[in-house]
Amino acid sequence: TIIVFSQSVSERSGDWSSHMCNIMGHLEELFTSTITRTFPEIDKPIVQIQVSKHADYQCNAAMTMAKTLKKNPREVGETVVKNFPEDPVISKLDLSGPGFINIYLDKEFLKQQVTNIVLQGVTPPPTKRRRVVVDFSSPNIAKEMHVGHLRSTIIGDSICHLLEFLGHDVLRLNHLGDWGTQFGMLIAHLKDEFPDFANNPPPISDLQAFYKASKKRFDEDEEFKKRAYEAVVKLQAHDPAHKKGWEEICEISKNEFQKVYDKLKIRITDRGESFYQSRMESLVKELTDAGLLQEDNGRMVMFGDGGEIPLTIVKSDGGFTYDTSDMACIKQRIEEEKGEWLIYVTDAGQSEHFKSFFACSKKAKIYDPAKVRVDHVQFGVVLGEDKKKFKTRSGDTVRLIDLLDEGCQRSEEKLKEKERDKVLSEEEFKKARDAVAYGCIKYADLCHDRTRDYIFSFDRMLDFRGNTAAYLLYALTRICSIARTAGVKKEDITEEAKKNPLVLEHEKEWKLARTLLKLPDVLVKLTEDLYMHPLCEFLYEVSSVFTEFYDNCYCVEKDQSGNIVKINYNRLILCEAVATVMEQCFAILGIETLEKM
Ligand code: ARG
Repeated sequence: TIIVFSQSVSERSGDWSSHMCNIMGHLEELFTSTITRTFPEIDKPIVQIQVSKHADYQCNAAMTMAKTLKKNPREVGETVVKNFPEDPVISKLDLSGPGFINIYLDKEFLKQQVTNIVLQGVTPPPTKRRRVVVDFSSPNIAKEMHVGHLRSTIIGDSICHLLEFLGHDVLRLNHLGDWGTQFGMLIAHLKDEFPDFANNPPPISDLQAFYKASKKRFDEDEEFKKRAYEAVVKLQAHDPAHKKGWEEICEISKNEFQKVYDKLKIRITDRGESFYQSRMESLVKELTDAGLLQEDNGRMVMFGDGGEIPLTIVKSDGGFTYDTSDMACIKQRIEEEKGEWLIYVTDAGQSEHFKSFFACSKKAKIYDPAKVRVDHVQFGVVLGEDKKKFKTRSGDTVRLIDLLDEGCQRSEEKLKEKERDKVLSEEEFKKARDAVAYGCIKYADLCHDRTRDYIFSFDRMLDFRGNTAAYLLYALTRICSIARTAGVKKEDITEEAKKNPLVLEHEKEWKLARTLLKLPDVLVKLTEDLYMHPLCEFLYEVSSVFTEFYDNCYCVEKDQSGNIVKINYNRLILCEAVATVMEQCFAILGIETLEKM
């Protein structure tokens, strides 16, 4: 059975002119509704749409259904095809093999979608807008922000870009570690070193060294330890002088963190653990009243219902912990922020902590999985090129600022090796240097399965071949320069796209168009598990398919002496669509693109 739809796009229902269609999702819906209509006895059909070699897509549902229906799969497939509604996205369905349903996309629809990219940019598929709270970066005050925080920053920022692009209401939060017992020793040390700290901000240039010095005293000097302990009590009792010292230390740290955020262009709102102090107090009361806490060697702990390790809610000295703050925090995000989706981006080492406090907040009826989605987005460890934990030669934590600076220096060398300094102005060169450096650092992190450990290597990430930001950013500038060197302006291309229907003929043109139109499905998929690497794979695929197209199809024809003989506007429209799609992908990855490099 072959069914061919004959009407043209404009005559049919379904309006894809205002946004891009997530084709696979759309096909899945069509198949599901057709199957439930055709075979009511099948309760929840499992419909999986796959990319196909013979057609555009394929649906294999007939095979599994045939078993349940005790029918021949071919027959089941034929019935589904016969009952299929007309749809602007599909031109034809047919059967092959034992009952594969082949799906052919409508060419007018495809052309219209490509044209729309050029005229409207990449428009996200319609999504239900949700309030999302993304907790990422979250370094600890007075300690060094390390490569783990860098990963959290890069992955978290990219997730925010994705969700913002899809139209969600995203709150980006920096859950700074600004409320631990370490503040006792820091303040006690501050009082000794800079007695006048309340009037004169202490000139601490190296907070890391300051931290180390106070830690040393804390570990070796009993009298100091006692004073440190008193300082925490006073701080938590809101004593003004202690509060001031705390604020000053936080200030110094935050300024350091901000340097990293500025370089990487990260937007984030500070809301540290200290924000939850009063909420922790009332939470503990609530949990106690509800009988959810139990004593264990002087501390108060809470168990979830799934056999997770218990949370320590109150320490034996009466103090609160990381667990207490996360319990108060999830409550605040759900009840006060009206969060419908909570995302936490940290290293995989914390997964037990997240399991425990998700379970406990469920048990305490703070979090209801039917109403709120929570995700612990975890990632692996960063390793050095020696495959050992990422450290400096002397074994210290690598300072992020130093790492970013080294990236810029390496990118500068690389660009000079490629003689880019000879073609770019000084300003353009600097811009390229930074964009390549930070782009490469981000891309190297995002382009593989985040749960795996990864080897940090400047040589590898700055390679101009393969799946790297250096290569892809360069590829994009090349695509953008095709029209420019032919003297065609962007407006000329959009004008052309508006006036004349797009014509696609060459097999490679079609392949490129079909590849571009996968983007909405890729984006929808990303939201399901919050793995970002498929977007990088897509970006790389686009650039590879583009190369195939460009090698086979002239966009601008020149004669022997280099004069332009013919400009193929259809192909320039295609180039423009490719550039738009690539730019959108980079924007979601948090990577700045360049016009020249
Ligand atoms: N400050 C923590 C760390 O450095 C990360 C905090 C993550 N967020 C949270 N709500 N627990 O590991």
